[in-house]
Amino acid sequence: MAFIVKKNIHGREYYYLNENRRIDGKVKTKTLAYLGKNKKEAERKAKEFLGKRKLDEKQEKTEKITEEINETEVTRPGDAVLEQKQSSTIISIENLATFCKRKGFVFRSSEIYGGFAGFWDFGPLGVELFKNIKDDFWKFFVTQRDDMVGIEASIISHPKTWKASGHLDSFSDIAVICKKCKNATKLDKSELGKVKCEKCGGDYEAQGEFNLLFKTNVGALDSNEAYLRGETAQAMFMDFRLAQETSRKQLPFGIVQIGKVFRNEIAPRDFLFRSREFTIGEFEFFIHPEEKKSKLLDDAHKKIKLRLVDAETQEKGKEELRETTIGEIVKENKLDEWHAYWLAEQLMWFERLGLKEKIKVREHMKSELSHYSSATFDIDYEYPFGSKELAGNANRGQYDLTQHIKESKENLEIFDENTKKKVTPRVIEPTFGMERIFLALIVNGYEYDKSRDNVVLKLPSFLAPVKAAVFPIVKGTKFEKTSERIVRDLKKEFNVFYDKSGSIGRRYARNDEIGTPFCITIDGDSLKNEDVTIRDRDTKKQIRVKISVLKDTLKKLIDREISFDKAGKPFNFDHH
Ligand code: GAP
Repeated sequence: MAFIVKKNIHGREYYYLNENRRIDGKVKTKTLAYLGKNKKEAERKAKEFLGKRKLDEKQEKTEKITEEINETEVTRPGDAVLEQKQSSTIISIENLATFCKRKGFVFRSSEIYGGFAGFWDFGPLGVELFKNIKDDFWKFFVTQRDDMVGIEASIISHPKTWKASGHLDSFSDIAVICKKCKNATKLDKSELGKVKCEKCGGDYEAQGEFNLLFKTNVGALDSNEAYLRGETAQAMFMDFRLAQETSRKQLPFGIVQIGKVFRNEIAPRDFLFRSREFTIGEFEFFIHPEEKKSKLLDDAHKKIKLRLVDAETQEKGKEELRETTIGEIVKENKLDEWHAYWLAEQLMWFERLGLKEKIKVREHMKSELSHYSSATFDIDYEYPFGSKELAGNANRGQYDLTQHIKESKENLEIFDENTKKKVTPRVIEPTFGMERIFLALIVNGYEYDKSRDNVVLKLPSFLAPVKAAVFPIVKGTKFEKTSERIVRDLKKEFNVFYDKSGSIGRRYARNDEIGTPFCITIDGDSLKNEDVTIRDRDTKKQIRVKISVLKDTLKKLIDREISFDKAGKPFNFDHH
């Protein structure tokens, strides 16, 4: 209950709004607001303050209810295999976009002008999650290996790039409109006449072929037509010899890049899934042209299980999956050993991200292969709108280097130390749609937890935008000072959030919803014993850990080097 107090300081009257609260069994008085020097004025200000506080509390309640309504709407994809395996809430892509906006993950580009189709902005939490995905990709595929080097090339390159690469002639889609329901979309050339309308099953009518490269002009007076890059790969071919000479790498080795690409998609849709500006993480792995065996393909790779839809099945008009292994498909001669090795490594990274369960691999039919590829495998993920491409893996052979040698008249051969001969290497290209991975992680992690009555975003701890939230369990200078000291120390290492507003239950819920894996509370005992409670997002289990080892313990938990149960003393206290 709040009340007004008058204080007499040096003969003058001052009014305050105070409230009594029970903290650790003792009643303590807390000042809520300074109300001025005049009694009438003080009464008016107190009324205003309490009215606003009531409104804030009401708003918090309404916000929670609205979120629940929006976030629990369930839509089911038509895939029976997925339905059997599904244990968590499946959210529609529209509701996912709303969730991402409300929590600060993703906003529509140019929202104040009504948005701009095919373009998106990452918000404060999205930018952190996206950066963590890119960093983990780089760690896994570049810095932890000896045979990879990175580059970061310009987005606009010499216009001849796209002539040599074949993109000016072949990088196009057919715009189609359904004759029955007027659904407008795009088809690959190979799909024309074979595919029916995805909405009503009607026939599509072709509207024309459109090249996907965005054109621009470079220079003011003597302007030249150029293109925004449609893939990052070409820079890796053009910089191939320079990167090899300066890094002194020998075959086989790879060049990696993560960067923005631009495609003038006919029908951008499904939130981040098909946009006009997006990010590709990919590498070109250069191999001696005659080397068919891979010394890196070991038993662990061969044993990797996958669900495959092969080309022959699709050519018969079917989509049946079969369970197989990397070793088995090598035996079937579906792909060579280096190609298999990289497909296996991609699947291993997806396993690390927790996405492998909902992944299937689809072999491209001969009729749908890109102009540069002799064999391609898509890695598809079960999105709420169906099983769709998340990443790919193409055998580009010598196509691109040969094309650039022809167009530039430069010699791009390199000297191979083993055979003592100059060679034009062949290339395997694993490629990843980084926004599609971002989307898959949110789809995969999103779970409405009935017992908690809130969403829990189960992101892997090493990718979570906020690694830990620190709460003083009650208000008070001592608690806040200790909490702030902890936050300052942890912030040197991780993105940590200091949260002191609202009930403890609400603070847990807020952090569950944005995927914060660990919540740290500072309570009465923390001041006496110099320790804190850590609460695990997914299990709600709690442990007690000394402040002196908190940073180190948290690091091990985030990197999954220790299990939660072993990281501290079990602690059972329900703050709700
Ligand atoms: N260098 C090979 C290459 O660019 P791609 O399959 O055309 O291959 C690579 O694109 C990845 O980019 C795909 O596996 C997919 O995940 C992603 N991607 C393709 N088009 C996209 C779009 N319009 N919006 C978002 N991601 C896209």
